Amino acid sequence: MQETIKFINEKTNNFNPEFCVILGSGLGDFVDNYDSISIPYSEIPNFKQSTVKGHAGKLVFTEIEGKKFVFMQGRYHYYEGHSIQTVVYPIKVMKKLGVKSVILTNAAGAVNKDFKPADLMIITDHINLLGTNPLIGQNDDELGTRFPDMSEVYKKHLVELAEKCAKNLKIKIQKGVYAACTGPSYETPTEVKMLRTLGADAVGMSTVPEAIVANYCGMNVLGISCLTNYAAGITKNPLTHNEVIESASAAKEKFQALLLEILKNI
Ligand code: HPA
Repeated sequence: MQETIKFINEKTNNFNPEFCVILGSGLGDFVDNYDSISIPYSEIPNFKQSTVKGHAGKLVFTEIEGKKFVFMQGRYHYYEGHSIQTVVYPIKVMKKLGVKSVILTNAAGAVNKDFKPADLMIITDHINLLGTNPLIGQNDDELGTRFPDMSEVYKKHLVELAEKCAKNLKIKIQKGVYAACTGPSYETPTEVKMLRTLGADAVGMSTVPEAIVANYCGMNVLGISCLTNYAAGITKNPLTHNEVIESASAAKEKFQALLLEILKNI
């Protein structure tokens, strides 16, 4: 960790960002037009190479309206075969860099039939169905407590802020519970019914490990999903990764506008 932090601080001249944004599917190019310092994950000591198509794999440091941000262009997914510790390592790095709030974005399937593909959903809570927890193992008391409270992972004031920003931009917004499954196979129709019964509104393959660790470290979390498809069985159509990529890119403008409004007002 010390090696990672030293390297990043040297590269960024001790930039010390206050906010971290993880850019999910379709949002990768959000920061392309900002003046920034970027570092490929491949250069950062102890960062693993990210393997998913459409995820560039770099940290981008930039200021927006006088506030300091670090963007993660690309994240690690458990289904890539990374250990759950690798998936959340960047979040611990963010904490050590001085980040106070983390915005997690992703693409997800709509489990709630009232939601529609291309809707955006503010995450109000999650269900961890990964079958593991990123905090398993020896506890680092410097980062957080052994048995952290998870009553308000997704901070109410940030949910309200995101809602207000959507309203300002006249963007329709949903709120709901995100369930994380490991993937990489999509869910079966029966699994989707189960998720609905459990109280999920959306299902995806990311975000929850990062949210757990960010909350554990005492950072504020805001989560936003781009609903790219109906989860399996809600319509008769089979799911494809291409559909997810296409819908994410169709909703991109709206998602980027909302994200920018949030960053301006956070
Ligand atoms: N299931 C799981 N993950 C996803 C989905 C889905 O339907 N859509 C986008 N990511």
